[in-house]
Amino acid sequence: MIRDSYGRPLKSLRISVTSKCNFDCVYCHQEGIEKSRSEMTAEEIERIVRLSAAHGVKKVKITGGEPLLRHDIEEIIERIAGVEGIIEVSMTTNAALLTKKAEGLRAAGLRRVNISLDTLDPAVFKEITQGGRLETVIEGVKSAVEYGLEPVKLNMVVMRNLNTDKIKEMIAFASENRAILQLIGLMENEYSDEFFKEYSCDLDRIVAELEEEANEVLIRKFMQNRTRYILDEGEVEVVFPMHNTEFCANCTRIRVTADGKFKPCLMRTDNYVDFLDAMRSGASDVELEKLFLEAVSRREPYFKKRVDISEAEAADVKNEGSV
Ligand code: 5AD
Ligand code: SF4
Repeated sequence: MIRDSYGRPLKSLRISVTSKCNFDCVYCHQEGIEKSRSEMTAEEIERIVRLSAAHGVKKVKITGGEPLLRHDIEEIIERIAGVEGIIEVSMTTNAALLTKKAEGLRAAGLRRVNISLDTLDPAVFKEITQGGRLETVIEGVKSAVEYGLEPVKLNMVVMRNLNTDKIKEMIAFASENRAILQLIGLMENEYSDEFFKEYSCDLDRIVAELEEEANEVLIRKFMQNRTRYILDEGEVEVVFPMHNTEFCANCTRIRVTADGKFKPCLMRTDNYVDFLDAMRSGASDVELEKLFLEAVSRREPYFKKRVDISEAEAADVKNEGSV
């Protein structure tokens, strides 16, 4: 298994297969990716997964934009799932097209899905997604369960005055539909600065309430130390990346943009490593591997504890010259 210079292993790839989307969520960070020049082909995606798997990557999450807008999404999944060493292919989707596609995705080798769902109020849903229909997404959730894309996780971005008072309702909905709710702290980004100021809320208060009401609290080691609360209504997990040193310290993933670049950190746009140009100009596997290793060497926790910084610097000196 390959580790970065902070000792963090690389276990998974998060691959954006398109930057197009059929929704236009007000907060969308678009995975921190600019609109693409061109998308990777299914074959190119398979090649980059194969190379990463040879270095110990075991899991792949397909993201977007909205992955289901790719007409060849089944082929992409089939190719990834067929790579030696890959044990799980999952997807984050807005589920608007999932009802039509769930069966075929499952057959192609998709194991599970995360579905973005911030509210059960059709008007608020329309407002957040700027035109999306809640009904189609709820159908999508049900189809995901029906075809065994489980555990289905519902991603709920928590926003002040929009959905903070509906968390219990969402937990109950998730539980009735055999899904797990994930609360996600709103992340600041260059596309949604104004929005962030108005809608970001104090997750600490929400967490304190959950803690008080929970029958059981579990910490998920190796999953960025996420906390899972078991309540009477069901389960809920909290994902809070902003200013969270634990989130970064436990990060084991690297991102791939739809236009073929490694993106070593969700929060940064200044350290991409482009591989698609090289691939299209006939680069050998050895040359591509060099780009992969370069990207891994650029992995570094974005939010670090002060003490970590000096330790990290010491490690940097020790590791000088190595990848
Ligand atoms: N803050 C937090 N989560 C976000 N997502 C998209 N933009 C943001 C943001 N600004 C989440 C959505 C989606 C997942 C891919 O990323 O919930 O499910
Ligand atoms: Fe962004 Fe996802 Fe919303 Fe599409 S559905 S706009 S990718 S958060």
